Amino acid sequence: MKNIVILISGGGSNMAAIVRAAQREHWGRLYGAEVKAVISNRPDAKGLQFAREQGIAAEVLDHKPFASREAFDEALAALIDRFEPALVVLAGFMRILTPAFVARYQGRMLNIHPSLLPAFPGLHTHQRALEAGCRFAGATVHQVTAELDFGPILAQAAVPILPGDSADAIAARVLTQEHLIYPRAIAELLPKL
Ligand code: GAR
Repeated sequence: MKNIVILISGGGSNMAAIVRAAQREHWGRLYGAEVKAVISNRPDAKGLQFAREQGIAAEVLDHKPFASREAFDEALAALIDRFEPALVVLAGFMRILTPAFVARYQGRMLNIHPSLLPAFPGLHTHQRALEAGCRFAGATVHQVTAELDFGPILAQAAVPILPGDSADAIAARVLTQEHLIYPRAIAELLPKL
């Protein structure tokens, strides 16, 4: 079985889109793949409940008690590895990762970032696109490498920035596209894993 472990920090709408696509498209039968666990670094992440309702293991590893980023990432890797993942999917996981963690899952860890990379890595991407006068915003699915919000691009979607748009309006428009491109990019990758 190609186990998928999804990491979240909040709403988990991308995670939910991936879980629903896996069910709808029969990833188990087609690719021998299954979403095995959802892990959040925030105990109050809304997405955890959805995962539990779907019968998926939903785990919390709160980063706050850990003395260092390295210590948290080591504990996180130990938790992830219990589920023997073929693929680790970052879906709104709002943590900077240590090089050791990235190296451990090199080639089998994906992220979605709410900008048209390589433009606007980091935070507040839609506000920055607005301020730069961009006509388009978007999202990027990419392999995770040592450099933050970098790495080989697997999929992108662009949406127009409309007159009078707020960052929130753009975020909502982009998010609906994220829900399409992330499951699709994963489904395209699974046969190659
Ligand atoms: C998404 O827009 C995702 O692209 C972004 O957080 C949101 C999570 O929403 N990710 C990042 O900013 C990563 N740096 P979700 O929890 O509803 O999927």
